Formats: sequence, structure tokens, C-alpha cells
Amino acid sequence: MIRKRTLRHFIVFVSVSGPICIVLFHQTSTRSFLKDSCMCNCAMDSEGRSWFSQRYKPSANVTLNRKNGLLDFHTYWWWKSLQNESVVANYTQVVEVMFSLFPDKDHYTDSSPSRCRTCAVVGNSGNLVGSRYGALIDSQDFVIRMNEGPTKGFERDVGSKTTHRVIYPESAVDMGVTTHLVLLPFKILDLQWLISIFTTKHIDLTYMYVKPSIIADRNMVMILHPAFIKYVYDSWLQGHGEYPSTGFISVIFALHVCDEVSVFGFGPTKDGVWDHYFEDFKSDPNEGPHDGDFEGKVISQLHQKHRIMLYKGW
Ligand code: C5P
Repeated sequence: MIRKRTLRHFIVFVSVSGPICIVLFHQTSTRSFLKDSCMCNCAMDSEGRSWFSQRYKPSANVTLNRKNGLLDFHTYWWWKSLQNESVVANYTQVVEVMFSLFPDKDHYTDSSPSRCRTCAVVGNSGNLVGSRYGALIDSQDFVIRMNEGPTKGFERDVGSKTTHRVIYPESAVDMGVTTHLVLLPFKILDLQWLISIFTTKHIDLTYMYVKPSIIADRNMVMILHPAFIKYVYDSWLQGHGEYPSTGFISVIFALHVCDEVSVFGFGPTKDGVWDHYFEDFKSDPNEGPHDGDFEGKVISQLHQKHRIMLYKGW
């Protein structure tokens, strides 16, 4: 009689606790899967991890807002020396006006082991011609383009989606109202120009003619932090060149706001020519303020160390 009752208790215990144990086991193993192996970009060996962590600063302010807008002395003077301005406005006042117009927030601080935001960074290299990368580029969550890099007429090779376009006044183009205008400011006048294109439209000259107005939505504006540009220069380029190129800054921007980064349209064609996919244009990557060779080397290292996927177009 006692044995029968014990057996019945045992059966009740197993039938109640069994499913609970299975649920708990499943939750624990799912959690440890997420912790030990994230879904994006995770296959770095310890040498790669140390190389990356020497350069990557997770706490870097990527975009500017009122709260983080103050620049330390070194950053301010470094940034101000990039492009000489004859008349220099008051930085703090300009920042104040800017964020009465544009979203004043920390963008993309939602990083977590379970987030898997995929991003394509699309440079303007001629190595995209004939690549047929369009569908792959468009399948990413974010598609970050830069300067005038067009899509119309080039969809098969470069795609048609643009979620972000990184520009500065001298390289600005219309971007419509569904694309984030990401300003890469090299001087205070660039911030004033950003205000002007949405208000008075009176600034049409920096060191050259610039568009006094472009088609864009002011609610889609974000501004790269001057300290972010300095961090990219110091930490990633170790002082090579005078300052980083738009393309290189866009790659590091993507590393900070995305979980998986695919890079297209960087570097020369297979014949060694540095040109644009959309126009007849030849350039020397080391001419001007950028060290194209060093930037290319870092981008290749990021690929070798599995932090980005670099698509060379051939
Ligand atoms: O020429 P542009 O500055 O508009 O190109 C945008 C970015 O694309 C550059 O800053 C550079 O990083 C990249 N690029 C490249 N190779 C090319 C052309 C552009 O890596 N042939």
C-alpha cells in the first residue's frame, strides 16, 4: 500500500517537474548559446581579438548631440586645424542651434548579443563595375553610401537601397526623405551649412561652391562627432595621412552601429586603377589628405580578422 502510494507520488512528481526541467534546460542552453557565440561576426581568434581591442573603443561617441557636444581642448584644436576657416563661429552656439533643428539623441545604442544588424558600406570604387553585388547589398539592414555615389542606372552592381549617406558640404547630393543624412563635419562652417540648407539656404561657399540646399529630411539627420573623427585617426590610422577618408570613417562608423559589416567598392580595380564606378575619373589614393594605402591595409586586416567581409569586385 505504502509502495503504491510512493510510486503514485513519484509519477506525479515526474510528470509535473519533467516539463519544467525541459523548459529550464532549453532556456539555459539558449542563453549560453547567445553568450558564447553571438550570431554575427564572432569567429575571431585571440590574436585577432587583441588586435581589434587595441583599436576599437566601444565607449566612443559616434554621433553628436547636445549632451556629448563639448569638445576637449586637444580634440577641438585638432579638428579645427583640418580645414582652415577664415571666419570661425562659436562652436557651442552652433551646436545649440543645430539641435533645436535636428534629432538630439544618442543613435544606435541598442547593442546586445541578440541584435544582428547587417550593414553594407558601399564605397565609390570602379571595382564595382560588373560585380553584380546589387542584390546582396540591398539585402542588408543598413546600406551606407557616401558622397555622390549614385544608384540609378547602376542597380545591378550597387543596389538601389540607401539607408544612410555620409556627406560633407562639398560632396552633398539630394538624398530624398527616406535616407539618413550623415554629416561628416571637417569644420564649424560645415555645421553652419547643415543648418543653412534647412533654413536660410544662404551658405553656398566654403573653400569652393557648395549646394545651398538639398532634398533631405531634417528628422533623418545625424552628425558624426568630431571626437569620433579624431578617434578613427588616432586609434585606427595611427596618425597616417592628415585625416581619414569618408570611406574609412564610414567603415568604422558601421563597426560601431552594426553587428555584421560587409564592405563593397573600396580599393583599386583589378588593373590597379583607382576610379569611380559611375564616372570617368582617375585618382591617386595617396594624394591629398588621406593615406589610401594605410587605410586599405587596415580594411584588409579587418577582413582577415573576420570583423568585416570585404568584397573586392573581382
Ligand atoms: O571618391 P569618393 O571620396 O567619393 O569615394 C568615397 C570613398 O570610397 C573614399 O573615401 C574611399 O574610401 C572609397 N574609394 C576607394 N577606391 C576608389 C574610390 C573610392 O576605396 N577607387
